Amino acid sequence: MSDVNRELLYAGKAKDIYKSENENEVIIKFRDDITAGDGAKKDTLSQKGYCNVLISAKLFKVLEENGVKTQYIELLSTDEMRTKSLEMIPLEVICRNIATGSLLKKYPFEANKELKPPIIQFDYKNDEFHDPMLNDSIIKALEIATQEELDEIREITLKINKILSDYLIERGIILVDFKLEYGKDSEGNIILGDEISPDTTRLWDSETYENFDKDIYRKGEEGVVDAYLKVVNLVLSDEEKVKWNVEQI
Ligand code: TYD
Repeated sequence: MSDVNRELLYAGKAKDIYKSENENEVIIKFRDDITAGDGAKKDTLSQKGYCNVLISAKLFKVLEENGVKTQYIELLSTDEMRTKSLEMIPLEVICRNIATGSLLKKYPFEANKELKPPIIQFDYKNDEFHDPMLNDSIIKALEIATQEELDEIREITLKINKILSDYLIERGIILVDFKLEYGKDSEGNIILGDEISPDTTRLWDSETYENFDKDIYRKGEEGVVDAYLKVVNLVLSDEEKVKWNVEQI
């Protein structure tokens, strides 16, 4: 779709949100930009937006098929999806199945310890305050969400974890951890929004434990987009790969 005559509603670190011709809908454009370390490290990598939109659309579809309400409506092109418009809740909901990343820096976990039950953590989505970790009391005091809403968000997040862990392990990928963002639709229902991609998850090869995610970029290594393309190949059906011209690897 051409950018002419479209109203940009919001530009994030890696996605742009445009007004749609339909009320209650928006168009999300996945750019090739990648950032890490609270925006300290920035690059533009060809085909990154393409990988992330295809992976997000596919995983949102899998969730919808399993009874989870998501913002996703349809994939429009190789970098855009049409979605429901939501009023976003400023929480980063992080779910962890294996201890790694910032958890090891903050707490005395043994690296790669399996977390059963999974850990669910809430960070405040607020750049000025550098996304501090929250608890239920702080969330309620800041009037970000009610206890009922938090309980519902936890329940949906655990359901998503189960659906996606099962889906990915069948395709040779361990879902190590991930970040979700939720919003409310015009009727006040809590709906999954944003994206689920290698930018917002840790995905490991189930045999070699090789990373297929943004950790490659965080560590300053080469081959981020190649790894993302591997995920595209593992999660899309053959029919979807033909439709979206995915190079088979
Ligand atoms: P975490 O280990 O807390 O942070 P870091 O990436 O700094 O080591 O991340 C847990 C998961 O959540 C990981 O898959 C990345 C994702 N995540 C985001 O997508 N955005 C964020 O702002 C944070 C903190 C995590």
